[in-house]
Amino acid sequence: MGKIYRDFTELVGSTPLVELARIREKHDLQSRILAKIEYLNPAGSVKDRTAWGIIREAEKNGKLKPGDLLFDLTSGNTGIGFAAVAAARGYRTKFYLRNTISEDKINILRQFGSEIELIENEELFQPDAIHRIIDRIRAENPDAFYTGQRSNDANPRVHFETTGPEIWRDTDGNIDILVGTVGTGGTVSGAGRFLKAQNPEIKVVVAEPTPESVPSPDNPDAPTIEGVHKVTEVEESTLPETYNKDVVDEVVAVTTEQARRTALAVAREEGFLVGTSSGAAVAVAIELSRRAENRGKTIAVVFPDSGERYLSLFDALD
Ligand SMILES: Cc1ncc(COP(=O)(O)O)c(C=O)c1O
Repeated sequence: MGKIYRDFTELVGSTPLVELARIREKHDLQSRILAKIEYLNPAGSVKDRTAWGIIREAEKNGKLKPGDLLFDLTSGNTGIGFAAVAAARGYRTKFYLRNTISEDKINILRQFGSEIELIENEELFQPDAIHRIIDRIRAENPDAFYTGQRSNDANPRVHFETTGPEIWRDTDGNIDILVGTVGTGGTVSGAGRFLKAQNPEIKVVVAEPTPESVPSPDNPDAPTIEGVHKVTEVEESTLPETYNKDVVDEVVAVTTEQARRTALAVAREEGFLVGTSSGAAVAVAIELSRRAENRGKTIAVVFPDSGERYLSLFDALD
């Protein structure tokens, strides 16, 4: 039977879950690692879900009319998701990005016709910077719709309603650990909450960058795991509202170098050219699978985006 999709939004979600069997064999791992390939969303990242979840809810609540301008502060993928969904629904977009973001992401946003404002990286080091920047950009765009990926409940909700159920269904409920990273926290909080509601024994583990993998006034050009934030030993007020730390059982730190190397291993051993945050999640899954208590368990990791989004930032490591 034929199947013609009505529009872009119908292609969001329902991504495949794939076993990383070659990595398991190479490292002689005692657990299965399954990867949810979110770069197969139509604009190339997990953020297509967030964008469609937020826009759909705003439409339902009568907060958007054709031609409206949408804006947000983003590390790129959310912007790309919003730009694509907005194009498909007839809205315009404007994004504020830190000036260290990969050129690849900026160029993609330009292709969608988004307006772009760059924010000096140093500005983000100041105390409470994130809140001041958000206040400022909201004041600059009084008539536009602020999508608010860091505070809008529709973000974790879409993962509770789609990402979590898809993992549960595709594993027939045979999943023990979910490993993800935190940008807004939407993915782990929403999918994690859903999975725990099905089986409270399921653990949620976050891969976070080590302190040297986060830019600071002393180390402003530290190579980062793009799109991902540190969630421990940070001011509570800097954590996104969409991050529900009660869902998280453990946080494991990974260096950018480890994340990059693991992302390349995934490309070279499994054929999936993934972004650095996917590498971070797999590095943590490998670490977990070496623990005696995880023998025979099934670990699902999220691959948020593709390595093609970072080609300008990194030369291939040998
Ligand atoms: C590359 C990448 N990985 C992981 C994440 C984390 O996703 P979430 O915002 O759902 O925590 C993001 C979010 O921006 C991202 O861009």
